[in-house]
Amino acid sequence: MRTPVIAGNWKLFKTIGEAVSMVNDLKPLVAATQGVEIIVAPAFTALSRVADELAGSGILLAAQDCYWEEEGAFTGEVAPKMLKDAGCSHVIIGHSERRQYFGETDATVNKKAKAAIKAGLTAIVCVGETLTEREADETFAVLETQLLGGLEGLVPEAFSKVIIAYEPVWAIGTGKTASETQAQEVHAFIRSLMARCFGQGNAESMRILYGGSVKPDNVKGLMAQPDIDGALVGGASLQAASFAAIANFAG
Ligand code: 13P
Repeated sequence: MRTPVIAGNWKLFKTIGEAVSMVNDLKPLVAATQGVEIIVAPAFTALSRVADELAGSGILLAAQDCYWEEEGAFTGEVAPKMLKDAGCSHVIIGHSERRQYFGETDATVNKKAKAAIKAGLTAIVCVGETLTEREADETFAVLETQLLGGLEGLVPEAFSKVIIAYEPVWAIGTGKTASETQAQEVHAFIRSLMARCFGQGNAESMRILYGGSVKPDNVKGLMAQPDIDGALVGGASLQAASFAAIANFAG
């Protein structure tokens, strides 16, 4: 019922040339893949060129962040409509690295998500607890705060333009994936929270991705969980072969 999403967050990697060569390696490896939305998220500088390479491939393009204003004196920022113009259909918002290093808060996530949706983009809104929070049994409380803050005031119609990515901070880039049971438990919690706050229908149709050390050898088990609808992949999305193996999880 929910189309799976496999998205690659390239973070601060790849020049334009490297990005182009990666997607050209990727295209034939996923040309026969059906029933999966495949998304790549290069750095801003490579978006427009990668969009040209992706034309006709079915692979979708995401940016890794955006600003909430449409234009103005905001040096260094990029507006959602500029991302649309560059060929993006999606934008990642509130990644834990932005929260940790760049002062992103639930309030800025909320403004960015609203602006992105208004511009016609799908917002991939990231949430996740730190190890300290998990060990203090605060996981659900942290996620509830992040989600209610980040999605505050969104009208129900906007929810078709939201994807949630649950990325436990302790699993990002550490090789420590959440177990299938741990991830499923959180995804089920997120879906029930969405149902409570935004209606059963929105919750049932919303895609909730897992992120944090997803690799070709653990994706299948994660994807078998009833509330895991896809993956947001960091390290393993940088090479065409490993990313394609993840996108082809269904075999
Ligand atoms: P890794 O897959 O490298 O752990 O990164 C996950 C991530 O942060 C994706 O956004």
